[in-house]
Amino acid sequence: MFNHKQTIIMSNVLSPSQKLDVVELLETAGVECSKTISNNLGITTKQIGAIKTWYNKDKNGYKSNLINLINAEKRNIDKINKLYAKANNDFKNVVGKYKKEARQIMVNSILKGKEHGLNRGVIATLPSNTWAIEELIHNQVSKSFSYLACENKKSVFIDMVSNLNKFGRNNKPFLGSLSEVITNAKENEFDHIIADYCGVLDTFKDEIIHACLNKVVKVGGTISVTTLKARNDNEFTSKLNTLKADLSNTEVRLNDNESAIKMFFKSLCSITNFEVETEFCYKDTTPMILVVLKRTK
Ligand SMILES: C[S@@+](CC[C@H](N)C(=O)[O-])C[C@H]1O[C@@H](n2cnc3c(N)ncnc32)[C@H](O)[C@@H]1O
Repeated sequence: MFNHKQTIIMSNVLSPSQKLDVVELLETAGVECSKTISNNLGITTKQIGAIKTWYNKDKNGYKSNLINLINAEKRNIDKINKLYAKANNDFKNVVGKYKKEARQIMVNSILKGKEHGLNRGVIATLPSNTWAIEELIHNQVSKSFSYLACENKKSVFIDMVSNLNKFGRNNKPFLGSLSEVITNAKENEFDHIIADYCGVLDTFKDEIIHACLNKVVKVGGTISVTTLKARNDNEFTSKLNTLKADLSNTEVRLNDNESAIKMFFKSLCSITNFEVETEFCYKDTTPMILVVLKRTK
């Protein structure tokens, strides 16, 4: 069976930035702390031992060599990304109307989770190449969350990974769909889910239903979802609109997606341990709705 925890281990070879993390911890925490460092960084004591050996031979030389390698890697990745961005019409950091506000709303909800002790667990998220929400969380809520960063487009994934360790700690990248991560998650696995899809409800509703029914975020945790409000005649939203028309005995246009989307989340909450904390309409390249669900029990 699919196990995302196995899939996210990309390679046994440590990157220069992982090695530098070890060196910095050895310097601050002392050389006797291999076990703690191993637990914190998720790498083996044998690998730490090898780094110690090289570091002890020439402390400054080893460190500056790692820094040079990190800078070279970054320059290389920047080049690759520019080429990819040219070749693909992939996600770009569009500054839409109230998009910043939408991000801040998600962050505020995550801040409230601290009342439930949620400040150092795992957040499943779609940071894309911006890591914009995660940066706000890092600066305003906690630096100790660990991000399970999902991305299903390879070109964006490479860009996303180049900023993997800027915010949070022990972050893991996952090349694939957030739906795989959610449907394979255990109860209470995540502190929060930031499903900033900016996508069509029909394409991800099943995983959100799964997340709520199976309580994959902890009590006080949130599931933030951004979805396109734009007109479409998808089967699911059309069904919701037909229901609204039947209930209200009025004619409801099949493209009234705002009501349909809100109805979906309210209905989902009525059968699960979640409540709708916020609904917020904003604009990216096109109209969107942000819905924040919060687990209450
Ligand atoms: C709207 S962007 C995220 C923006 C970012 N959170 C921000 O605040 O700037 C969504 C990103 O997730 C990716 N994506 C969308 N749906 C996905 C899914 N179901 N699984 C994995 N990646 C997805 C897209 O390719 C895109 O890079």
